[in-house]
Amino acid sequence: MDAEPLLAIRELGVAFPGARPPVVALAGVELTLARGASVGLVGESGAGKSQLALAIPGLLAPGAILSGSIRLDGEELVGATGKRLAALRGARIGFVFQDPQAALTPHLTVGTQLIETLRAHRPFAAAAARVEAIAMLERVQVPDAVRRLGQYPHELSGGLRQRVLIAIALIAGPDLLIADEPTTALDVTVAAGILALFSQLKAELGTALLLISHDLAVVAGRCDRIEVLYAGRVVESGPAAEVLAAPRHPYTAALAAATPRLDVPADAPLAAIPGSAPAPGERVQGCAFAPRCPRAVAPCTSEQPRLTAAGTSGARVACHRPLGDGPP
Ligand SMILES: Nc1ncnc2c1ncn2[C@@H]1O[C@H](COP(=O)(O)OP(=O)(O)O)[C@@H](O)[C@H]1O
Ligand code: SF4
Ligand SMILES: [Mg+2]
Repeated sequence: MDAEPLLAIRELGVAFPGARPPVVALAGVELTLARGASVGLVGESGAGKSQLALAIPGLLAPGAILSGSIRLDGEELVGATGKRLAALRGARIGFVFQDPQAALTPHLTVGTQLIETLRAHRPFAAAAARVEAIAMLERVQVPDAVRRLGQYPHELSGGLRQRVLIAIALIAGPDLLIADEPTTALDVTVAAGILALFSQLKAELGTALLLISHDLAVVAGRCDRIEVLYAGRVVESGPAAEVLAAPRHPYTAALAAATPRLDVPADAPLAAIPGSAPAPGERVQGCAFAPRCPRAVAPCTSEQPRLTAAGTSGARVACHRPLGDGPP
């Protein structure tokens, strides 16, 4: 029997029935993350990436209805009490969001935030927690760690703030780190440094990583597997190298074509994906990508394609006419 994966999400739904019109943000989402592994979750703005990130640690907005199953190390989180979810946050699930300014507490020093987070979850005396806080700041490559302990978030640059946030997320030793667009608010060079840090931390700490981005280039090369989300559904998933080199879903192929590559000149024109995803609350019959899909055939507008196995590597695709299988 296979050991239970660290994270197993099944038939996950997130809906906002009170919104006008009512919104289905996620439907039938499946995602598995093995201990110490990394998954890249990609999709355009509005695809539902953040709702997935927030659903795991129990941080969805009031009015959100969660359905299906989220198991962390065998423990069901859907329906868990607020108290239980709060205890898991920090201790077992660390998270880093796009805006480090909003995620840090402005009136507490970096040191206080690190030490309080650690002591809330692990039995550390104050002096030992301070030593641990310095070690964690050094691990995320914050220079001058001892001095930084006494500083407030507003005294730090955007890149340093994001490193401090990563240190807070990791200090209690969680087995899962969720990073939702962690570099979107940063300039390109600072972002590259933060992404290199994720790769290094993963190797050093063995923390499983769910890395979320609208940009395929951000997750490429950093994740073992890629999940592609479109209009609240997973449309393709598989080993990262395979999804990138030979995408099966026409949306993944379009996303890859619209992603700058290192081996082509930077001034080469980028293919944009024509059209737009369904509006929030729009009801779609059949495949949500059909209005934008160059391969659409008759069943595409009437039948919702199901996520089914493709190839032999555990890849899956939800498409009536996937690329690479059978006649073009
Ligand atoms: N509080 C809310 N009420 C109603 N709809 C919401 C709410 N929060 C998010 N949504 C909708 O859920 C969908 C997914 O949003 P989100 O997960 O933020 O997308 P992404 O992170 O991929 O850009 C969007 O259509 C968004 O409008
Ligand atoms: S199901 Fe049809 S419309 Fe949807 S992506 Fe596949 S070919 Fe295109
Ligand atoms: Mg988002």
